[in-house]
Formats: sequence, structure tokens, C-alpha cells
Amino acid sequence: MANLPSGNRDSFGSKFGVIAAAAGSAVGLGNIWRFPLVTAQNGGGAFLLLYIGFIVGIGIPVMLSEFTIGRRAQLNAMGSFKKLAPKTPWFLVGSLGIVTAFAILAFYSTVAGWTIEYLIEALSGKLIHIEDTSQNFAEFSTDPVRPVIWQLLIMFVTGGVVYAGIQKGIEKFTKILMPVLVVLIGLVVVRAVSLPGAGEGVKYLFFPDWSAVNFKTVLMALGQAAFSLSIGMGTLITYGSYIQKDNHLLSTASTVALADTFIAIMSSLMVIPAIFAFTTGGIDNMSPGPGLVFEVLPNVFKAMPGGVIFAAVFFFLLTVAALTSTISVLEVVVAYLKEEMNMTRAKATVIASVSITVLGILATLSFGVLGDVQLFGKTIFGILDYASANVMLTFGALFIVLFVGWKLGKSSFLDEISNEGTIKSGLFKVVFFIIRYIAPVAIGIIAIAAFFIKGIT
Ligand code: PFF
Repeated sequence: MANLPSGNRDSFGSKFGVIAAAAGSAVGLGNIWRFPLVTAQNGGGAFLLLYIGFIVGIGIPVMLSEFTIGRRAQLNAMGSFKKLAPKTPWFLVGSLGIVTAFAILAFYSTVAGWTIEYLIEALSGKLIHIEDTSQNFAEFSTDPVRPVIWQLLIMFVTGGVVYAGIQKGIEKFTKILMPVLVVLIGLVVVRAVSLPGAGEGVKYLFFPDWSAVNFKTVLMALGQAAFSLSIGMGTLITYGSYIQKDNHLLSTASTVALADTFIAIMSSLMVIPAIFAFTTGGIDNMSPGPGLVFEVLPNVFKAMPGGVIFAAVFFFLLTVAALTSTISVLEVVVAYLKEEMNMTRAKATVIASVSITVLGILATLSFGVLGDVQLFGKTIFGILDYASANVMLTFGALFIVLFVGWKLGKSSFLDEISNEGTIKSGLFKVVFFIIRYIAPVAIGIIAIAAFFIKGIT
């Protein structure tokens, strides 16, 4: 068969390995610091239902589109489009993915680095004695040296795992750390929901307030679902190219989506009830991002019995969640350099890591010494975050479903997800219908609305 994996191409060694790697990519900072607050502030249970609807109805079909492209072509994000649609401009969608990966990793590694600082502050006991947590965060994040050192460490570990390869690096790393992550989150959840006063937070989180749902909320739910599943930039095309031909893609994609949603809900149970138990100001006015994790939660840990331990566990799990995502993003660029530029994995990893780190350092310093370098009122970090997560990812996802729905076509798609006809399921045609008609409209609306409505993705 023409599209069997070539003998010397890397691949994941086991089904669990595929799921651990893809779920590792999906579960990240987005689940832990963004999802809980966005859900709590936008209708709780109502937002959650919408979100789950989008994960199942749109997220899984897009994920399957990416897996299909990668596994069929057996190539990196750009090479896949070149191979499946030769001599057409579709390869540009692949290049958009590579650029997006570059930009995401630059700002994501800044925040991932912060988690190490906080892990160390928790372990050394400093965090528990800080008077003013906001001032502490402001001093640290504007420092010209410490955040850069932690970012270098994150990029070094990320590069090391990617350099070790698919089975010996990415698969091994995520197979060990994802179960650890689940257990640690479970521990913190048990602690958080058993705090006195936590019940109010659980109620607040899950009570469906439909009056908080409007057009903007619906768009936010879809945007969050897309970012959280790591769709729209070629990560899952790249990982898909390492998936064995006998893997049941629909079941893999569904498992990954379920795991990602489960962790997002667990993270909410870890964060929101604890905030209710220990802070008085309410959470309506909090903004997602640094504020919640680096300023509010340290106060919660300070007030909680055994807070030192839980702070250390929390920041450790945040670092782990971030790392299993950063490796998936770096692999997009490394696979591209390796296959399209004929580099060895070692050389591709060094070149990709070093160049992303240079951009990343600028993003880190934009909280302090480079704060005045701004475009459209945004710092370097702000631009990278907005352009990649809000604009490029959305357009990437749109073009990916258009490609599978209208260019690759029904028979190739069905061939690939049925493993050349060996698996039968009535769902395959339903998924294709969504990819062809529903997903492009839904994602297209978000892509356009993102320009007009502030803060939806
Ligand atoms: N899904 C990750 C999160 O929720 O934090 C972020 C992410 C990773 C987005 C990889 C995109 C990506 F390709």
C-alpha cells in the first residue's frame, strides 16, 4: 500500500503512548488557569454544557481531520499538505501552522517558566510567607534575569525530550507524566472540595445560569474548546503522522477529548472551591491568566492548612502540564526542519529551540525592561499571544476542515479513518458531514467575530 509508514520513520509504539502524547499536548495551562475562571464567570453549568457540545460536535471532528492528514501523508505539517495536494497553495496552511507553533511556544514558555519559580518559592517556604502576592508577582515578572533563566530551563527540557525522539522521548515522557498529573490533580481536588465553605464554590461552578449565556459566551466556549484540544496549528497533524496504521483514530480522538475535558473540570474543582473558601472578593471581576494562578492562589495556599505542600504539588503539576504541551509544539517545528530542510533531528532541535528561545526571551522581558516596545497597545508577549491563540489558530482550524472536507474529499477521509475499510461505523459519515459543512461555518463565524468582539478566544 502506498501510504504505509516507511520503515525508517518514527512512530508511537503503543496505543496508550499515542493517547498520552496527544492528551499531554491538549492538557496544559489552558485547562488549569483559563478554563476554571472562564466557566465560573460565564454561566457555570450552562457554559460547561455548551463547551462539551463543542468538544464533541466540532473539536473531535477537527482533531480527526488533523490525524487523517498526518497519518495519510506520513509527513510534517507542511510536507503533508504538499504531498496530499501537490502543486497547490494548500501548503500555505502548513506554513501557517509552523509559524503559529513558533509564536505559541515563545509566549507559552514564558509562563511555563514562571511555574518553576513558583514551584521553588513553594518548596522553599517563601510563598507561604509573602505579604503581598500581587507585589511579589510584579517584582518577579519584571525582573530581567530570573524569568529568563526559568524559560531557558523549560526550553532545555523541552528540547531534550524532543531530541530523544518520538518513542524514546515524547512517548516515554508523557506516558510517565500524564498518569502522575492525573493523580496529583485528584489529590488537590479532594483537598479543595473538602475545605469548609467549598460547597458554595462547587455550586457556583456547576449551577447553570442561562442568563449569563449570550452570543459572546457561545463563541468563547468554542474558542476555548479549540485552544484546549491543541487544534488548528499542525500539532495533531504532526502527531498523527506518527500514529500506526491500525490505530482506531475516532476512538483515539474521543479518548483524548474526554481526558482533556475531564482535566479541565477537575482543574475547576481544584481552583474555584478553594477561592470561595478563602477569599472574600468573589470571582466575578478576576481576569484569567497570571492574576488567578500567581496572585490569588498563593493567598489561598497561605490560608489553607497544609498549604505549603499543596502549593508545591500544584505548581509542580502546572509545570508538568505545560511541558507535555511545549514538547508537542516544538515537535511541529522540528519535524518540519528535519523533513523539509533535510536536517538531522539533533540539528533541527537545536535550531528550532534556540530560535524560539530568542523570541521567547523578548516575550519574557516585555513584562519588564521591554515593556515599552508595543504595537497596537500590546507588548511583545501580548502580540504573540493574541496573534497566535486568537487569530492564527482559528484560521488554521478553518483551513484544515476546508481542506479535508473539500479538497482531500470523502473517500480518502473514510478510507483513512476506517483503516482502509477494516473498521465499520455509521459515525464516520456523520463526522465527515460535520467537517464539510458545520465546522467551517462555526469556526468561520469565530474567525470573523474575533476581529470585532474583544476577548472571545
Ligand atoms: N492545549 C494547550 C493548553 O490547553 O494549554 C495549549 C496548546 C498546546 C495549544 C499546543 C496549541 C498547541 F498546538
